[in-house]
Amino acid sequence: MIAHRHPRSALLAMLLVIAWLPVGASDLLDLRGIEAIHGDVDAGKTKAAVCMGCHGPVGVSPVPTFPNLAGQHAEYLYWQLMELKREARPESPMTAQVAHLDDAAMRDLAVYFSSLPAAIPTQGTTSSVRGSQLYGEGDASAGIPPCQGCHGRNAEGHPLAQGDAHWRAYPVLRGQHAAYLAQRLKDFQNGKHTLSSNDRIMTPIAQTLDDASITALAAWLESPTR
Ligand code: HEC
Ligand code: HEC
Repeated sequence: MIAHRHPRSALLAMLLVIAWLPVGASDLLDLRGIEAIHGDVDAGKTKAAVCMGCHGPVGVSPVPTFPNLAGQHAEYLYWQLMELKREARPESPMTAQVAHLDDAAMRDLAVYFSSLPAAIPTQGTTSSVRGSQLYGEGDASAGIPPCQGCHGRNAEGHPLAQGDAHWRAYPVLRGQHAAYLAQRLKDFQNGKHTLSSNDRIMTPIAQTLDDASITALAAWLESPTR
C-alpha cells in the first residue's frame, strides 16, 4: 500500500471545502446539523438478538475484525447504520443486516448499544509509544493532524460531545479492536466511505497515514493506556 501524503495546508484546505459545501449540492449525507437520537432501549435490546452473533452478547465483539458497539455514541451508531443502508456494499456482512431495518429500529438499536458499558480494554499491555505520540500530537512533517482534537484526549469521544449531538457523530475509539480500526483506516484511505460529510473529514486524514502509523495508532487505541 502506498501512503498518500498531503501537506498540512492541503488538508486544511480540504477541511475548509467540506465546511462550505452547500447543503443539497450532491447525495452527501450532511451530518453538520443533526439532532440527538432518541429511541427505546428495551425495544432495541429485543431487536439486537440478531446482532449478537457478531457484535457479542453485550456489544463487545468476540472477533477482532468486528467492531465493539457498547458505549459508542448513539448518534454515531445510527448514522453508520443509515450509511450502511445507502452504501449497499456487497462485501460487508452489514448490508444484509440493515436491509430490513426501518428508521425506528435503527434508533432503538443505536440507543440500546450506546447504553451498554464500553469494553474494558485489556489488550496491548505493551502500549505503542509511537501510537500515543501520533494520537496526541500528530506528525507535522507527514501532514498528520493530532487525532485528539476530534476524538478526545483519551479517545473517549469528541471533547464537546456532551453538549451537541453533532459531535456525537464523531466516534469513541478507546478500547476498539485494533484489527477493526486498522481495516477501517485503510478503507478510508481507499475511498470506500464517501457518503457523509464526516466521511469526507476522515478520508483525507487517513490518507496521511502509512501502514506503520496505522499499526501504531490501532495498537494504542486498543490498549488501556492513557
Ligand atoms: C454477520 C456478522 C454481523 C452481524 C450479524 C451484524 N454485524 Fe454489524 N458489523 C459487522 C462487521 C464485519 C462490521 C464492520 C463494518 C463493515 O462491514 O463495513 C459491522 C459494523 C457495524 C456498525 C458500524 C460500527 C462502527 O464503529 O463504525 C454498526 C453500527 C453495526 N455493525 C450494527 C449492527 C447491528 C445493529 C446489527 C444487528 C441488527 C449488526 N450490526 C449485525 C458484522 C455484523
Ligand atoms: C477533524 C476531525 C478529525 C480528526 C483530526 C481525526 N478524525 Fe477520525 N473521524 C472523524 C470523524 C468525523 C469520523 C466519523 C466518520 C464516519 O462518519 O464514518 C471519524 C472516524 C474515525 C474512525 C472510524 C471509527 C469506527 O468505529 O469505525 C477511526 C478509526 C478514526 N477516525 C481514527 C482517527 C485517527 C487515528 C486520527 C488521527 C490520525 C483521526 N481519526 C483524526 C474526525 C476526525
